[in-house]
Amino acid sequence: LQNPLWACAALVLASPAVADDGYRLWLGEGATTQARSGVEVRGESETLRLAADELRRNLPALSVPVVVARADDAALAGLRLDARSLGSEGYAVRRAQVAGREVLLVTGSVDVGVLYGAFALLRHINSGGDIANIDLASSPQTKLRILNHWDNLDGVVERGYSGQSLWDWWVLPDFKDPRYADYARANASIGINGTVLNNVNAKADSLTAPYIAKAAALADVFRLYGIRVYLSARFSAPIELGGLKTADPRDPAVAAWWKAKADEIYRAIPDFGGFLVKANSEGQPGPRDYGASHADGANMLAAAVKPHNGIVMWRAFVYADTDPEDRAKQAYTEFKPLDGSFADNVLVQVKNGAIDFQPREPFHPLFGAMPRTPLIAEFQITKEYLGFATHLAYLGPLFEEVLDAQTGVRRGETVASVVTGKADGHSLSGMAGVANIGRDRDWSGGTFNQANWYVFGRMAWDPSLSSEAIAREWAAQTFGNDPVVIDTVVAMMMRSREAVVDYTGPLGLAHLFATGHHYGPGPWVSDLARPEWNPVYYHRADRQGIGFDRTRTGSNAVAQYAPVLARRYADPKTTPPEELLWFHHLPWDYKMPAGNTLWEEMVRRYDRGVAEVDSMRSQWATLRPRIDAERWTKTDAFLGVQQREARWWRDASLAYWMSINGLPLPNGSAAPQ
Ligand code: GCU
Repeated sequence: LQNPLWACAALVLASPAVADDGYRLWLGEGATTQARSGVEVRGESETLRLAADELRRNLPALSVPVVVARADDAALAGLRLDARSLGSEGYAVRRAQVAGREVLLVTGSVDVGVLYGAFALLRHINSGGDIANIDLASSPQTKLRILNHWDNLDGVVERGYSGQSLWDWWVLPDFKDPRYADYARANASIGINGTVLNNVNAKADSLTAPYIAKAAALADVFRLYGIRVYLSARFSAPIELGGLKTADPRDPAVAAWWKAKADEIYRAIPDFGGFLVKANSEGQPGPRDYGASHADGANMLAAAVKPHNGIVMWRAFVYADTDPEDRAKQAYTEFKPLDGSFADNVLVQVKNGAIDFQPREPFHPLFGAMPRTPLIAEFQITKEYLGFATHLAYLGPLFEEVLDAQTGVRRGETVASVVTGKADGHSLSGMAGVANIGRDRDWSGGTFNQANWYVFGRMAWDPSLSSEAIAREWAAQTFGNDPVVIDTVVAMMMRSREAVVDYTGPLGLAHLFATGHHYGPGPWVSDLARPEWNPVYYHRADRQGIGFDRTRTGSNAVAQYAPVLARRYADPKTTPPEELLWFHHLPWDYKMPAGNTLWEEMVRRYDRGVAEVDSMRSQWATLRPRIDAERWTKTDAFLGVQQREARWWRDASLAYWMSINGLPLPNGSAAPQ
C-alpha cells in the first residue's frame, strides 16, 4: 500500500458509501464486498456464473431465492417458457415455481440473455421497483448495438475528452487490465454487444499480427459478456502491409489479400464481428480512388468475412472537396443509387444527420431512401460539438428526436423503424455510438457524460424507450433513490441539450465551431482551404439575412426527403422553427409565428440558453447535501465553466451577427450592449 493509487483503490472497495468518484458508473450504489447467498445458478456456463455473481454482489436480501437459468434448462420445463418469445438475446424475470419452490427466476434464451436479465433485475430494484409482482421481459430491437472507439494505436482518442485510450496496446496481449472486464460489464448492463476497437481514421498497423493478438486478448475478456470485437479497416492495407501495387477492390490479388487477412483474424478471434470502413472520406483511401464504387469496396470485404459469418459496416459519411454540391447532399447522391447492390452481410452506416453530429440536425435523408440495404445509425456519444466533457448535455433527447422522426416514405415509418430493420424486413440492423470512454477514473470525463453512454445502449436496445424514462433510471442507479435528487437531476438533463443548441446555434444554424478542435464559437471563420469547412459556408449571413437555402431556389437538398417532407421543408412557414435556417435563407426581419422578428427570436434563444445553464447550476447547488462531495464538486465546477462559456458563445456570436446585420440588440436582451 505504499503506492497512493493502491491506497485509494482499497478505500473505495472498503467503503463504497463514503465516496464515489464515478468508477462504478450506474452499476449500483450498494455494491457490497460480502456476496449474498440465495442466488442459485443452473448450468455450467461462465456467463451464467457472471450473472449470478452480479446478483449476489448487488441485490439486497430478498424474501425468495433467485434462480438464474437458461430457458431450455430442464428445471424450467414445466413453465412452458417459449425461448423464441424471449427473442434471440432477450430475457424474462418473474416469480415462478421451479423444482417445487417459489423463486424469482432470471432467464433468457441464450446465456447472455440471462445476463441481461440479471442487469434488468438490478435496474428494476435500484430504480425503486419491488419483486412482489415483478414481470420483466424484453428483447433487443436491433441486432448490432455497437460502440465505435475512435482510439488510435498511440493511445490518443480522436475527439475523446476522458483521457487516453482504455486499450493499453503496449502491454497487451500479456496483461489484461481488470478494467476491461468492468468495461464489458458496464456495456452488458445496457445491452451493448459489439465494440470497434480502433479509430475509423484507421492505421493499417491495426491489422498486423501483433495487433490481432492484442485484439484477441480483449475479445477473450469481452466474449463472456456477449460483446464481439470489430476492427476499423484501412482500405489501402493491401498496399501498406501486403506490398501490392493497388487496393482496387476488383483486382483478384486484392480480394485474396483481404480473404487471407480475414482468415488470419478469425483464427485468433473465432467470433470476430467484422470490419468498419471509412472510405473516400476526409482523405481516407477507398474504392473511388480506382474508379470503383463504394459497393464494390464493401462487397469485396464482405466476401472475405462471409465464410466466418462476419459483417461489414460501410460508412456513408462522404463528401469531397472537389464537389461543389451542398455537402449535406453528397452522401445521398453517392449512396442512394447503390441501394440494392450491397452484399447481404453489409450494412451502410449513416450518421444521424447529413453534416456532422451538430447539436441539432434534421435526420439524414438516407434513412428511408435505401430500403434494400440495412442501415446502421451512427450517433456521437462523445460531445465533439456539445462542449466536450465539461458542458452538461444529455443526449437522450437528441437520439430520441432522430429515432422518432417520420421519414415520410410510408405512413408510420420512422428512422427507428428503418434502423431496427422492421420497415423493410431486414434481419441485420443496428445502432453505433462513437464512444466517450477513456482512462479517466470516471470513464467519461464527468458523471453526466456517463448518462450519454447509458442512454445510447438503452435506446439501441429499444429505440421506443423515452429519453426521460432512461434519464430517470440512470439517475436512480447513479445517485441512489432520493426522489429530490432524481427529480432535480432529470429536470436538468432533459433541458440541457436544448440549452446547448440555444447558446451555440439556435433555429437550425449549424457548423459554427472554431477551427479544428471544435470547442467554442467561430461563425466568422472563412479562410479554410476547403470551403465546406468554413462556418460562413453554412450560415451565409449577409446584411439582408441568414441561413442556408436548401429549397429549389438554393441547393434543393429538401428534394432528398420523401415528398411530404420535401413540401414541408420547402416552405419556411411549415418548417419547424428548430430547423428553419438549416433549410432557408431568411431576412433578419422575417416574422416568426409569435410575431417577433427572426433577429429578435435568435437573440431570445441565445439568452434562453444562457439562462438555462444558470438555472442548472443553481439547481445543482441545492443538491449539495445529498450527493457525495467528489461528484458534486466536479459537476459544480464544470457547470461553472459552462456558465462562462455559454456567455462566450452568445456574446461572441451576437457581436458577429451584429457586425453583419447592423442591428441593435432587442430590448430586454441580457447580452452585453
Ligand atoms: C468528424 C470528426 C472527425 C472524424 C469524422 C468522422 O468530422 O471531426 O474527427 O474523423 O467526423 O466521423 O469520420
